[in-house]
Amino acid sequence: MELFEEQINKHFQEHFGRLPAFFVKAPGRINLIGEHTDYNMGLALPAAVDKHILFGFAKNGSKDTCRFLAIDMNAREEVRLGQLTKSDQSWSNYLLGVLEAFAKRNISLPGFDCVFCGNIPIGGGLSSSAALECGFARGLDQLAGEYLDNWELVKIGQETENDYLGVQSGILDQFSSVFGQAKKAMLLDCRSQTFSYINADFQAYQLVLFNSKVKHEHTDSGYNSRPEECRKAVSIIQNKYPEIKSLRDVNDNILAECETTMPNKLFRRSQFVVHENARVRAFCRAFHESDFELLGKILYQSHFGLQYFYDVSCKELDLLVDLTRGEEAVLGARMMGGGFGGCSINIIRKSDLTEVKERILSQYKEKTGILAEAYEVSIEDGVQVK
Ligand code: GLA
Repeated sequence: MELFEEQINKHFQEHFGRLPAFFVKAPGRINLIGEHTDYNMGLALPAAVDKHILFGFAKNGSKDTCRFLAIDMNAREEVRLGQLTKSDQSWSNYLLGVLEAFAKRNISLPGFDCVFCGNIPIGGGLSSSAALECGFARGLDQLAGEYLDNWELVKIGQETENDYLGVQSGILDQFSSVFGQAKKAMLLDCRSQTFSYINADFQAYQLVLFNSKVKHEHTDSGYNSRPEECRKAVSIIQNKYPEIKSLRDVNDNILAECETTMPNKLFRRSQFVVHENARVRAFCRAFHESDFELLGKILYQSHFGLQYFYDVSCKELDLLVDLTRGEEAVLGARMMGGGFGGCSINIIRKSDLTEVKERILSQYKEKTGILAEAYEVSIEDGVQVK
């Protein structure tokens, strides 16, 4: 039996008087390298993980009544298809945004009930919101008998973020939740929207996330200003290089030539994106050669860029990364995801895991008063109907 299945059955029965007809499982994601590159048409190396949301769905015999129950929030919502308005419950707006995207595509849905719960930490930078959108979208797709392809689900999730929730994010999170495959990372090219699976065997090492417990909301965190800054940088570069379409097309030489023509802040943003794209390639090469020491170094370099050039870290994430520097068993660490809170991602030698985790968590507690959490993550499959 799937984790959470029993809980969902119980609540479905209690609230709606029967059992769900089917389940959808939607995972959160990590990103090994390639941060803030997605909306710059660049490269990233994400994977889906063993933290997920499970949904139960069933038609309810009505023409247009949809009832949702979020077990973890202990909250319910009831809406009518064709009469959707924004909710004052923020979790519900992710679902409403997806319903809106289905309506825009003229996909007709029956009345249905949906119950869900999960273990992706909310605001932890593991994209619980993309899992919510894409898992819910796959469920609606199933109810409608539409069989949308995976890229369409990614688009529906991104549309929900961009148009319904006002977050100017790229495709990274939704792509990872939908296309994930066990034991594989995905080298994603956001311009061509193509990708390849690569073996992600860390051998004697373990991927560990430290959750700073500092929460971010991308609508007001500063995340939303980054795509705009990058567009401005591109438009300045275009004065000299009109063929450049995004920071993906820029290199160090072009940047050096344009440095004096742009504000320093935009120069630093651009430099980060150019170097982060290069780091994705370097990371893949190092992976191929099983050069784990180098993988770790690349993570630290990425954090430096995110901290000082892209300005999306925060003092708690910097501390989590700094605490690993004295640890010989930690090969590398960096903040992960959009930033301004959430998790750091770390490569740690398995044999030293317990002590290292304990030391970092207790030093973090001592310095910030915050009880952080450590997750040993494994790489799992993407969205699935069960
Ligand atoms: C958030 C966004 C993604 C991506 C990352 C940073 O997770 O939702 O689209 O921009 O931040 O890499």
